[in-house]
Amino acid sequence: MPKIVEVCPVSELPPGAMRLVEWEDLEIGVFNCGGTVYAIEDRCSHDDGPLVEGTLDEAGCTVECPRHGSRFDLKTGQPLSLPAYEPVDTFPVIIEREVIKLEVE
Ligand code: FES
Repeated sequence: MPKIVEVCPVSELPPGAMRLVEWEDLEIGVFNCGGTVYAIEDRCSHDDGPLVEGTLDEAGCTVECPRHGSRFDLKTGQPLSLPAYEPVDTFPVIIEREVIKLEVE
């Protein structure tokens, strides 16, 4: 059964903002990309770089890993440039009564 994890009120994560959410042994990066919120595993598939400390490109809806520069599509978790070549997990985002929540398993 998936679990619902509360992140924060929508007002605390405006467009261009990102934050880390920890749940059990998972670390999840939550990003507001131009008003739409996405959540991906906060561990680069290349060498565990912390993606939430990377650079968010709101126009392309990507984040660049701070370690070696792979860019990841926030919608799909797919890497768009080397050295990473495997995707990272994505998590469904729910906005309920102005609160951001994630669905995790
Ligand atoms: S750890 Fe992310 S590109 Fe190397």
